[in-house]
Amino acid sequence: MNESKLHDLINSMTLEEKAAQMSQVVSSFLHEGSGEEKITGPFAGMEVANEDMSGSGSVLGASGADDLRTIQRAYLERSRLGIPLLFMADVIHGYKTVFPVPLALGCTWDTEAVEKSAAIAAKEAAAAGLHVTFSPMVDLVRDPRWGRVMESTGEDPYLNGVLARAFVRGYQGDDLKNDQSKLAACVKHFAAYGAPEGGRDYNTVDMSRRQLMEYYLPAYEAALDEGAELVMTAFNTVEGIPATGNKWLMRDLLRKEMGFDGVLISDWGAVQEMIPHGVAADNREAAIKAVTAGLDIEMMTPCYIQHVKTLVEENVIQEALIDEAVLRILKLKNKLGLFENPYRGADRELEETVTLSDVHRQAARDTAAKSCVLLKNDGVLPLRKDRNIALIGPFAESTDLMGPWSIFGAEEDVVSVRTGICGKLDIEPAVEKGCDIEVISFEQLEAAVEAAKKAEVVVLALGEHSEMSGEAGSRTKIKLPDAQLQLVSELRKLGKPLVTVLFNGRPLDLHGVIDESDAVLEAWYPGTEAGHAVADLLFGDTNPSGKLTMSFPHSVGQVPVYYNSFTTGRPHNQIPSEYRFASKYLDAPNEPLFPFGFGLSYSEFTYSNVALSSEMMEESGTIRVSVDVQNTGAVAGEETVQMYVRDLVGEVVRPVKELKGFRKVHLEPGETKQVVFELDEESLKYYHSDLTYTYDAGEFVVSVGPDSRNTEGRRFTYSPAIRVRSAVGEHTTRVYGEERF
Ligand code: BGC
Repeated sequence: MNESKLHDLINSMTLEEKAAQMSQVVSSFLHEGSGEEKITGPFAGMEVANEDMSGSGSVLGASGADDLRTIQRAYLERSRLGIPLLFMADVIHGYKTVFPVPLALGCTWDTEAVEKSAAIAAKEAAAAGLHVTFSPMVDLVRDPRWGRVMESTGEDPYLNGVLARAFVRGYQGDDLKNDQSKLAACVKHFAAYGAPEGGRDYNTVDMSRRQLMEYYLPAYEAALDEGAELVMTAFNTVEGIPATGNKWLMRDLLRKEMGFDGVLISDWGAVQEMIPHGVAADNREAAIKAVTAGLDIEMMTPCYIQHVKTLVEENVIQEALIDEAVLRILKLKNKLGLFENPYRGADRELEETVTLSDVHRQAARDTAAKSCVLLKNDGVLPLRKDRNIALIGPFAESTDLMGPWSIFGAEEDVVSVRTGICGKLDIEPAVEKGCDIEVISFEQLEAAVEAAKKAEVVVLALGEHSEMSGEAGSRTKIKLPDAQLQLVSELRKLGKPLVTVLFNGRPLDLHGVIDESDAVLEAWYPGTEAGHAVADLLFGDTNPSGKLTMSFPHSVGQVPVYYNSFTTGRPHNQIPSEYRFASKYLDAPNEPLFPFGFGLSYSEFTYSNVALSSEMMEESGTIRVSVDVQNTGAVAGEETVQMYVRDLVGEVVRPVKELKGFRKVHLEPGETKQVVFELDEESLKYYHSDLTYTYDAGEFVVSVGPDSRNTEGRRFTYSPAIRVRSAVGEHTTRVYGEERF
């Protein structure tokens, strides 16, 4: 359909029909014959989710080719204008073939793997009739108390941006209309949802505009630049105004400055939440604020459906604002080809063949293995397959390994650690639970100790159950539950080699685990193929290559702790340790236990010959940064070489390091490769105090290494010709060395 026809369509719509396009409800509201009694929550008792289903233009959370075809058919039969429904859902890290949680996907540092995981998710979900996924979630995260850190790819704006692009490419492909195995992507949660005070979900976010732009916006920008069709608002406030009704954030920043012209949808209930937030007195006022801010679709609350018509009739809101929102929604439906084929993609036979296919499972297994991070290895790993192993822990046989936001995955499809390990061994391992996730009994402990005594090596499968993270999964304690720590401590006393595998959704305080174990593998929630992937790593069939994308604190008291921090005016590492008045803790180091970028391998990688092609970068010029990386270990492996930059003297304070590039290299034993990065002035830019995005002339340090802590740096000078405005007009000048502008 061409755009002028869409305009004609809008001209023929009633205000009620327009408000319906702007409202979204869950599918149970729409099922034929579901009856008023099923309609709960804010829509209860309303005529909106009525028999002709006209109260909504899109549906949330339903899936399955047959079901969605039925809903669509019934809707269209009764629809006056024949505008099809849009089906949206949270396909976050896989559909039925569940991939690792996004924080783990981030730890792959592998854009191809991430893109492929999204493409597979889209393929399965599109065959099940879905059109839109509420992914990627690109909120930058620094506080592991927040349960939703597992939905993000981590603490770094650059890496989050690169991965956001990979997700969008994987979901959307190049042609949403003709490639029906793709989904439209909805980037969320705009903006800064990743920074709730105290790590408590839905809590206040308050940060400077400069911080917002520099750290929190880049990943949204990257996703939009890659073409993400939708944006979801955030629950939190931004500068004191809830994001969903924040006109500056949505109209000025997102629409005008960032150029977003797609569909803006609220988060679940976020329009009505403006009432408890205390910026709207009632649903009517909430609707006014949301429409004025430019929100196209209200998810799950009835402010639009109740008030849009009268607000226009009473001239409180111009109909043009409503038409603009409806046009964006219809354009999306049109882009997906729904006017030509309202059943786009929904195909039961295809759904049955593609979901959980061998190819998809294999991709999930490979990706899961890449996402696990080896935190410690005193030489006990990889395990020999002829060893007598005891597998102990609440996750030994658990299938709760998909993590939060895997709503379409089924536990019966998940490969447990036991199954994975048994597939590698000639002798069946002894398997004991040892304790439940949060409770331990004497009998459980005794059985575990007995099994461990007979074994040569103990593999401990520990962690958080998936409800302990995810939405509304905030915690003030980020250690493993006491029951599991007691289990570790008792087993440690036996003096057997202990290999701990962790399943969890956040960086943990590893007291009671890290020193007590001979090896620790952070497996996150690896998804459907969890057990296979973990076993591949434990027995060395796959060499670990994952690297952390979020720092692991020593303890919760250090939180937030992240690598790209400021030095402060009293840098603890530049002031003698006996001097008290430095920026430090009296009882803990400033640095995290494991920094951003950290992860071990069964290979050893040695870095040497860090060199710059020049010590001077000219305007629009580049510097080549090179380093030799050698695999000095005995097995082939993959290393992620990281490049960081520091601006030594900025107009505003600059972080001690900022990731500006990375490369993954595969190295055979003994092999050396030169890794080369091109550094240009784009990498030197940042937001200045007046919010201009530009660079400083002066001294910089570029450093490379295997993680954000262990890097080797070289200095260079950036000497651009800069434009200066003066009374006589604009002219170009050159500023050298220490001078700044
Ligand atoms: C979450 C969103 C999600 C939405 C729809 C909300 O509670 O914050 O991330 O997309 O629900 O399920």
